Amino acid sequence: MKQREYIEKAKEHFGILLEQQFARIEKMKAEEDFTDYSKLDELVIGIVGGDGIGPYITEEARKIIEFLLADEIEAGRIVIKNIDGLTIENRARHQQAIPDDILAELKKCHVILKGPTTTPRAGDPWPNIESANVAMRKELDLFANVRPVQVPEQGIDWVFYRENTEGAYALGSDGIMVNEDLGIDFTVTTYEGSYRIIKAAFEHAKKSGKNRLTVVTKANVIKTTDGLFLDIAREIAKDYPEVEWDDWYIDIMTAKLIDEKRRQEFKVFVLPNLYGDILTDEAAEFQGGVGTAGSANIGKRYAMFEAIHGSAPRMVQEGRAQYADPSSIIRAAAMLLEHIGFQKEASRLQMALDICGNYEKKIVMTGRDNGATGDEYAEYIMDTLQDSKLKERWEAYRAGN
Ligand code: IPM
Ligand code: MG
Repeated sequence: MKQREYIEKAKEHFGILLEQQFARIEKMKAEEDFTDYSKLDELVIGIVGGDGIGPYITEEARKIIEFLLADEIEAGRIVIKNIDGLTIENRARHQQAIPDDILAELKKCHVILKGPTTTPRAGDPWPNIESANVAMRKELDLFANVRPVQVPEQGIDWVFYRENTEGAYALGSDGIMVNEDLGIDFTVTTYEGSYRIIKAAFEHAKKSGKNRLTVVTKANVIKTTDGLFLDIAREIAKDYPEVEWDDWYIDIMTAKLIDEKRRQEFKVFVLPNLYGDILTDEAAEFQGGVGTAGSANIGKRYAMFEAIHGSAPRMVQEGRAQYADPSSIIRAAAMLLEHIGFQKEASRLQMALDICGNYEKKIVMTGRDNGATGDEYAEYIMDTLQDSKLKERWEAYRAGN
């Protein structure tokens, strides 16, 4: 082909992408407000196992949710729905990030607890289809990826609001190989998409009383898209005089997170997708690694809660899946409970997780048969939840006794 033809083909591809983004903007404009769960007669919680260790750890989290919501489930106000088939084998068979029938099932839920799913990449035995995670965030419009990180003894109390549907991820599987020499990817920032995530972060900063927000971009170099994100933050900040805010570039931000003196100053962060992906892994490392963190993906109609670690296929191959640590997905379950209005249950579960995992450690998981199984760990958590002295035990932990 001649250069001219390559350009025409690329233009056509680009035109289609623009049409899709315009359609997405229209949808965002028409969006209703957040679901009020307290007004529902029946709230459906979907449980998606995913790949590798996913079904094992998710099962432990399901038991705990059922334990804490026993009365509501009994009364039919809450329904737990298992959704099978979001496995890499099934996705590969359908050549779809989320097969249609599974997406239809997901859309019947209000909130979803999801185990890790394998993300295909070039060279894998799987077709290089889009990540199920990324697809679910887009399909269900889960625009706010909320990731808390706490290390009380180091004064770290952070919450990340990562934009979850735009940026480098929006068209991550839709780049153009213009010809064999030239590859182009795109990054997308919309006014609507940025507005809603930045607004959510300011709201959180205000409501939580933290009153401190940090916007992270690379607007000095990525001038158009990151520049827009930062401009919108400036605009929204005017509505929140009580929230002290600042803006940082992603490179120096990653450095400041390891500055023991400075990092305690940060409280709430808001940032575009890819920077959020990277910074939240770094942040989780201070807390004990990505395996210890929970993650909420929140939209106006749906919300999905997940562990942020991978599916550890090797543990399954080696017959060790029952020793996989369910802490992260149980943390995600606590976030789910809080999101649907069960604050008391959520905070008891957080406390039990702190006590069992960080403090008393009567049962320790090693990922092998010299440690506890996920089932034993879930039992330990449920025993702890039943203790009328739970709060005292947790306060002793927080006081460093
Ligand atoms: C995360 C993960 C995902 C992401 C992967 C699995 C696609 O790293 O949730 O942070 O990049 O968003
Ligand atoms: Mg990540």
